Amino acid sequence: MATRPPPPVLAADPAGIAAAVAALRAGELIGLPTETVYGLAGDALDPATVARIFAAKQRPADNPLIVHVAAAEQLGALVTRVTPLARSLARAHWPGPLTLVLDAARRVPSITRGGLDTVAVRVPDHPVATTLLAAIDQPLAAPSANPSGRPSPTRAHHVVAGLGSSVRLVLDGGACPLGVESTVVDARGARPVVLRDGFVTREALGVEADGAPAPRHRSPGTRYAHYAPRCAVEVVPGPDTLVARVEAATAAGERVGVVGTRVAVADALAAQRRTRPGLADVGLVFHVTVDDEVALARELYGAFLAAEEARVDRLLVLAVPEHGVGRAVMDRLRRAAAAA
Ligand code: TXA
Ligand code: MG
Repeated sequence: MATRPPPPVLAADPAGIAAAVAALRAGELIGLPTETVYGLAGDALDPATVARIFAAKQRPADNPLIVHVAAAEQLGALVTRVTPLARSLARAHWPGPLTLVLDAARRVPSITRGGLDTVAVRVPDHPVATTLLAAIDQPLAAPSANPSGRPSPTRAHHVVAGLGSSVRLVLDGGACPLGVESTVVDARGARPVVLRDGFVTREALGVEADGAPAPRHRSPGTRYAHYAPRCAVEVVPGPDTLVARVEAATAAGERVGVVGTRVAVADALAAQRRTRPGLADVGLVFHVTVDDEVALARELYGAFLAAEEARVDRLLVLAVPEHGVGRAVMDRLRRAAAAA
């Protein structure tokens, strides 16, 4: 069987945008940078195109897609009613990493909605996405541009590696500035219900930060295994146990990597310095250290994919405090750990 060449990664200059618009008008799929992660974009209102998105990702048919529009004014055409809550959330957070779930207008195909009566919509905050959406003037369905279950792509080459020739081209937006997917909120009622945590935090939404997680049936995607690299992911609760875990895994013959904030890794070293050798002396084959949980969010999926490339067997990730963006990071980490 002849293998098709990998898709080109195009600069998002006028020629690149024109090529993307032409591909999308022809019903093809493209890789599109957003401020969160790269999306696998196609015409949201064309069922045949949306079917191609599901096939490319091998995504379960009951897991609906997010519809992306250029501006908040386009929300009304996709839903039966823009609730007062949706209006105020859109005013506060769009463009930005917030997805609103509302009752769907009939023109949104059932396949896009995963068979639900609702549709998820957002206005991304990324110059390339904004330029493309304005140029094509069509809502674009764009799930994260990874095969189902795998880490989301935060760089153009991740899309090429994950989806290959299922995309016609990838627009290059460099590294995604945020790195975790949008916050998904059910905005049908009077109060926001968080279906997936993200950069628009529960604190910013005025939602009880310690509130119970959303019931699983309300966000279909949360039912499935997610974000997992091809190595074991283990969440290490605190610095005091990190070195012991590195040593135990290394002694068991595993190639071990560590991801964490600089402070946590330094604490881990300080905690064991009295009795044991440093991290570098215990056979660590890979490590990524970052400033804080915001940087961890940005680097997490890239670190997963880089750990794979370094043929790490077990990636130990130091937990971050579970508030603000840390909640979204810990959510993704736990899912990756559970799936491995
Ligand atoms: O940041 C993002 O949201 C990225 C970029 C590309 O925009 N997109 C993204 O899409 O993460 P995806 O398909 O990987 O995740 C969409 C999530 C899933 O958990 C899905 O179940 C949920 O949104 N979702 C979509 N439509 C929904 C609906 N009508 N009701 C409840 N949840 C919905
Ligand atoms: Mg996804």
